[in-house]
Amino acid sequence: MTDLAPAQHRHSRLLGVGSYLPANRVTNHDLAERVDTSHDWIVQRTGIEARHVAADGEFTSDLATHAANSALKAASVKAADIDLIVLATATPDFTFPATATQVQANLGIKAGYAFDVQAVCSGFVYALTTADAHLRAGLAKRALVIGAETFSRILDWSDRTTCVLFGDGAGAVVLEAAHGPPSKDQPGILVSSLRSDGTHREKLYVDGGPSTTQTAGHLRMQGREVFKHAVSMITDVIEDVFAQSGENGDTIDWFVPHQANRRIIDASAQKLGIDPAKVVTTVDQHGNTSAASIPLAFAQAVGDGRIKPGHLVLFEAMGGGFTSGASLVRL
Ligand code: UT7
Repeated sequence: MTDLAPAQHRHSRLLGVGSYLPANRVTNHDLAERVDTSHDWIVQRTGIEARHVAADGEFTSDLATHAANSALKAASVKAADIDLIVLATATPDFTFPATATQVQANLGIKAGYAFDVQAVCSGFVYALTTADAHLRAGLAKRALVIGAETFSRILDWSDRTTCVLFGDGAGAVVLEAAHGPPSKDQPGILVSSLRSDGTHREKLYVDGGPSTTQTAGHLRMQGREVFKHAVSMITDVIEDVFAQSGENGDTIDWFVPHQANRRIIDASAQKLGIDPAKVVTTVDQHGNTSAASIPLAFAQAVGDGRIKPGHLVLFEAMGGGFTSGASLVRL
């Protein structure tokens, strides 16, 4: 693409989506052999039946590279045509460099720039919004936006209150800058809303880091406290994108929420007046894959033909920080 107009006259189109799950599928029954839990408790409280766990030696960048390749194929875009990679993860390969630069190297991309975004479970919406802003500002032309996690590596596998909830995986989308402002009836990212509130750190955090303990640490969560805030934080950002766009629960075609807990998804959809038939749910088979959960769910619903070109899709996430975010995208 050449001769782009000024920034306010661009928007980002979503050209394709891809995903990747590690081969090792771990069921609730498998977990019940390791910790004091049961299939019934996990299903009743969360809706989760199974999750995938990365193999030894399989890193976040490996999952991300698989998902990126699958998104590039779906978009019919060559890796060499990508000049921006924004990778959302809370489980990077190393403290630095950014995992995005490892993916850039894995894909053989020499042009442009790549960096990570850290917003835990809201990471994909933050990364999508960041890439959209870069494309609209004219800094890049074609972006890979990736959510990739190996949460299995930061779980305390003796803590039944957290280890049953999370899984590993990756999802990616390809964005391209296009002429003209975002418009209701044209394909593209219409509007996004991001929020954070740093006063809630102790409710969901990892108890290690380079600056504090010089260790990677383990995930700690006050689940009931997170649950209490989740639905209102989720509905706040969605009501904001509805207000900005004039859309609502009736006019969207699909709701692709962050997959943390079936009860949170159902309660959010109900509060927003979204028909349950429009809700894409994969938490039963993936668990909570943090930044990867939305593109994993999105890829599944595009792959099985539910989400089609022209559809209006609502993404939403909430997680550690607390952070939250929502985006409305016309395919
Ligand atoms: O993606 C980022 C955002 N994260 C989330 O959205 C997670 C939000 N929170 C939740 O999804 C839920 O709070 C949980 C699924 C984590 C927990 O469900 P809950 O209904 O809030 O249960 P609880 O923490 O109140 O625990 C109820 C009982 C407790 O026993 P007592 O005190 O009633 O005797 C727990 O010790 O369940 C017990 N329990 C378990 N029992 C069997 C906790 N974990 C387990 C377990 N298996 N794995």
